[in-house]
Amino acid sequence: MPVHYQITGSGAAEIVASVETGMRQGPLRPGALLPPVRGLAADLGVAPATVAAAYRTLRDRGLVETAGRNGTRVRHRPPLVAAIGRPAPAPPGTVDLSTGEPDRGRLPALGPRLRRLAGTASEPLRYADSGPWPDLVTLGRERLAADGVPVQSGAVTITSGALDAIERLLAAHLRPGDTVGVEDPGWANLIDLVAALGLHAVPMPVDDDGPTVDGLRAAVRAGAAAVVVTSRAQNPTGATVSPQRAAGLRRVLASAPQVLVIEDDHAGELAARPLAPLAAAGPRWAFVRSVSKPYGPDLRVAVVAADEATTARVEGRMRLGAGWVSSLLQRLVVELWRDDTVAATVDKAGRAYDRRRDGLVAALAERGVPAHGRSGINVWIPVPDDAAAVGVLRDAGWAVSPGSRHRQASPPGIRVTVSTLSLDAVPALADAITGARTSGRSRGSAR
Ligand SMILES: Cc1ncc(COP(=O)(O)O)c(C=O)c1O
Repeated sequence: MPVHYQITGSGAAEIVASVETGMRQGPLRPGALLPPVRGLAADLGVAPATVAAAYRTLRDRGLVETAGRNGTRVRHRPPLVAAIGRPAPAPPGTVDLSTGEPDRGRLPALGPRLRRLAGTASEPLRYADSGPWPDLVTLGRERLAADGVPVQSGAVTITSGALDAIERLLAAHLRPGDTVGVEDPGWANLIDLVAALGLHAVPMPVDDDGPTVDGLRAAVRAGAAAVVVTSRAQNPTGATVSPQRAAGLRRVLASAPQVLVIEDDHAGELAARPLAPLAAAGPRWAFVRSVSKPYGPDLRVAVVAADEATTARVEGRMRLGAGWVSSLLQRLVVELWRDDTVAATVDKAGRAYDRRRDGLVAALAERGVPAHGRSGINVWIPVPDDAAAVGVLRDAGWAVSPGSRHRQASPPGIRVTVSTLSLDAVPALADAITGARTSGRSRGSAR
């Protein structure tokens, strides 16, 4: 639906500023349709090329997206803080399975580790003491090596989480306008980040074993300068890269040495399935393990192993800006990693997530509804119309995430985060999803 907000301006820069104001102040919300180029040009008395240039700038900054004849729309999560703030929480009484968050009640308690840290880290540190904390680097190396990541052929650094690592890795090798292979369906934040960096995403289809070999090959042929692959607990499908798939993907990568391969292993210690890494299939690689899902998203720490040239660029660039990840955070992760009680808590959380996910997938299968969820905290359910299914489920008291945030060219689906789902609620949820699929279809809006 077109939005009633008068875009103004007599040049491209003014039109950009006016659209930005509309986004900041509210009327141009995520999903809002901008006027067609010719219509707006006629309204403003400027050449269509001027409006087209303004829209191009907005697109290159990841503020809007253009979907062919569907027009130009404000992106779901543009890189701009708006007056409308965060999305409204799920209405009271609704079971919120839309968030992608781990279960807060299953994250390790920080208190005992903070107290231990206070005993050893009370001295203020100087600039000269900064950088990747040596104990964390050593422990990170050991953990990754134990999972088969060839850390010995690269170097390790520390970033503020996985998305920060991916941004820095992409910036180290790519320029705006370059192409990145992104899983489809994939992680919404990554899709938004790629757009905000002015990069062009090419979709790599995903099945339960990870990105398909054909999909990777097509991305390489399309000129991808980097690809991002989720090792385990792919968001939203739960895919885990299997050893056979890894072998096929490695063969493609071995003949594409120009491609930077970024692996995102955010499940880390939560994952029951073994890792099948792609690292070092070619000369440019990076393996990222964030602590967000097992230990808590607020910790903002990821260990990054990468080829030496890439690590040097990432760490060198970081020194000129943010500097380093606070050693307090880095040392807290060391405390968490050295604590057997924490390891037991994380393992217990992983198995609880497995039971919830497997329970939902099985209950859906009993009802004839195919679903994906081999690992992690999400289940992906193909539906004919994701907006309709989300609406029907909301009316029935369940909040889930529409697939539109996760996909580029792949068919519609909904994402259900099971991290807090009670097993007792699984049959009712499976019934509701089964009904919502049918309702979506009967509305006749499958695309
Ligand atoms: C695919 C994927 N990677 C990584 C992360 C964690 O990112 P970060 O370390 O930036 O919190 C998430 C969190 O939702 C995710 O879904």
